[in-house]
Amino acid sequence: GKENTDYLLSLFRTIPGFPKAGIKFRDYMPLLADAKGLGILLEALNRALPVPADQIDAIAGLEARGFLIGVPLAARLGKGFVAVRKAGKLPPPVEHADYSLEYGTASLEIEEGIIRPGARVLIVDDLIATGGTAHAAKTLIESVGATVCGYSFIMRLDGLDGCDQLGDAPISSLVSMPA
Ligand code: PRP
Ligand code: MG
Repeated sequence: GKENTDYLLSLFRTIPGFPKAGIKFRDYMPLLADAKGLGILLEALNRALPVPADQIDAIAGLEARGFLIGVPLAARLGKGFVAVRKAGKLPPPVEHADYSLEYGTASLEIEEGIIRPGARVLIVDDLIATGGTAHAAKTLIESVGATVCGYSFIMRLDGLDGCDQLGDAPISSLVSMPA
């Protein structure tokens, strides 16, 4: 309900000019640090799943802030968790995808064999801004013959059209703020 949504929103901290001039950084660490907020958050993510749980084979969390909610959500749903990591952290062999970010460029990787071909994968992250990160994760998942069945974000930044490039899979976000 609105009470829970407002509570979640109240625990985001906004830092203007970080990590670059012109960016308003939306920090959910205070939400994770709040016991009541963390409980509400996981309950809300579970309730707002973009697809029914029985249509999800695995949860993919995006380094780093997507790891923190992806694992507890996966455990709660009885699914496995796949780490989509920033390039250079995972041992070879890996699949690799480049992307551009609101504040720079980067690359993501997954370990080969970590996702079964044909698996229906839910992508989980704290926030969608330009959508570049989630799109790169989608590219990786599809490159191993799996499909993205949906996306779960805590926050959507309005005015960046980030959701437009993610294809047809349904997208869930709990709260939104201006970019
Ligand atoms: C942030 C955020 C999302 C991404 C959203 O991650 O956690 O993953 O940016 O931006 P986009 O929609 O424009 O791609 P960041 O790359 O800052 O790294 P972190 O999660 O490791 O802190
Ligand atoms: Mg991130």
